[in-house]
Amino acid sequence: MKIGIDRIGFATTNKYLDLDELANARGVDPNKFKIGIGQNKMAVADMTEDIVTLAINSTLEYLDDVDLAKLGLLIVGTESGIDQSKSASLFVKEALNLPNEIRTFEVKEACFGATAGLMMARDYVRAHPNHTAIVIGSDIARYGLNTSGEVTQGAGAVSMFIAQEPKIIAFEEGHASYSEDINDFWRPNNFKTALVDGKYSTEIYLKFFQKTFDAYLNQNKLTADDFTAITYHLPFTKMGLKANRLAVAEASEDSKARLEENFEYSTKYGREVGNLYTGSLYLSFLSLLENAGANLQAGKRIGFFSYGSGAMGEFFAGELVSGYEQYLNKELHQQMLSERTKLSVAEYENVFTETLKDLPEDIELSSDVTAGKYYFAGQNGFARNY
Ligand code: CAA
Repeated sequence: MKIGIDRIGFATTNKYLDLDELANARGVDPNKFKIGIGQNKMAVADMTEDIVTLAINSTLEYLDDVDLAKLGLLIVGTESGIDQSKSASLFVKEALNLPNEIRTFEVKEACFGATAGLMMARDYVRAHPNHTAIVIGSDIARYGLNTSGEVTQGAGAVSMFIAQEPKIIAFEEGHASYSEDINDFWRPNNFKTALVDGKYSTEIYLKFFQKTFDAYLNQNKLTADDFTAITYHLPFTKMGLKANRLAVAEASEDSKARLEENFEYSTKYGREVGNLYTGSLYLSFLSLLENAGANLQAGKRIGFFSYGSGAMGEFFAGELVSGYEQYLNKELHQQMLSERTKLSVAEYENVFTETLKDLPEDIELSSDVTAGKYYFAGQNGFARNY
């Protein structure tokens, strides 16, 4: 039975910061951010945008195509949750009018959360062939003003509908996992921004890539040449570029250019929004699908490298399904990115500072988010309203 991604939706914030302007404000050469880090812009979430609104908005993109009678599972992967107890997925389920009979919960393992959900959904659909699942990776990456991680912030959600005989990509059996208990990135309960040892994190990411990639190749008797493209978790695109160089080093001359070109296509959206944490790998995949054009053909194998700090890595792969192009929303995504409101550095700093404040028990918020999209409308007795 073929199981995989049948539909995929993407949402990001209404506001962004141009990283050339951030570089100038921080007294850094703009090429450090553009080339050295590999990012152009970053999404900035205001008070009315959180992981729930992003998750809802990304799923609304394809929900009309889903037969709700068959939906059995809704999983939200996140590491920037809005409650220590209640799952974000319950707010999402309510807003989307999904059946009360589905199983729904939130998953956490840093940026690996959506992959954990995806693998559970794959197994669920295999065990329940008449059922389908929705898996969402939704996050807001915040490191803090004037920190070295500031340029690698971002926000957004990717939502995937998982079904048998999928329209976009069918996953191969198996996966290669690797984990170790380390401190490269973490966010204690009393912190609103992340703590990170960025250089150590890159080192571990590359080590985990090499381990899981090699294990997957051995497991499935493949070589690097058997991949038309490899997509990566991209906290910033330079990190993925370093991993792709390791993959390319194992490829023949014929495959090198293809893997390098397709890597560039997979970074196009990430460069514009920054780190999506759990959604980041799947945004790389979407970016590849919507930007590679003739470089991608149905029937070809695409690799996925998922990484969550702490740390957990996994490599898996899938085969592109014939006609996948018809199920993408390239124009919608490009319009969404081009219609965002640009913030000055001062405006970004104000928005950022506001979002770190504790809210009172009761508050009503209004929003300038695009009409038709969900926003966080405030809370009563600390219970959130959307
Ligand atoms: N032109 C071009 N390139 C330049 C340049 C210039 N003018 N100036 C510097 N550079 C290059 C440097 O040579 C360097 O390149 P290499 O990496 O190839 O060596 C690059 O720009 C960055 O320079 P620095 O290392 O000096 O930058 P920095 O000290 O400011 O730190 C960083 C960069 C480590 C990425 C930092 O921004 C950071 O810590 N970011 C957070 C990283 C992160 O997100 N880690 C977690 C990843 S996994 C994840 O997402 C976690 C999860 O599970 C939640």
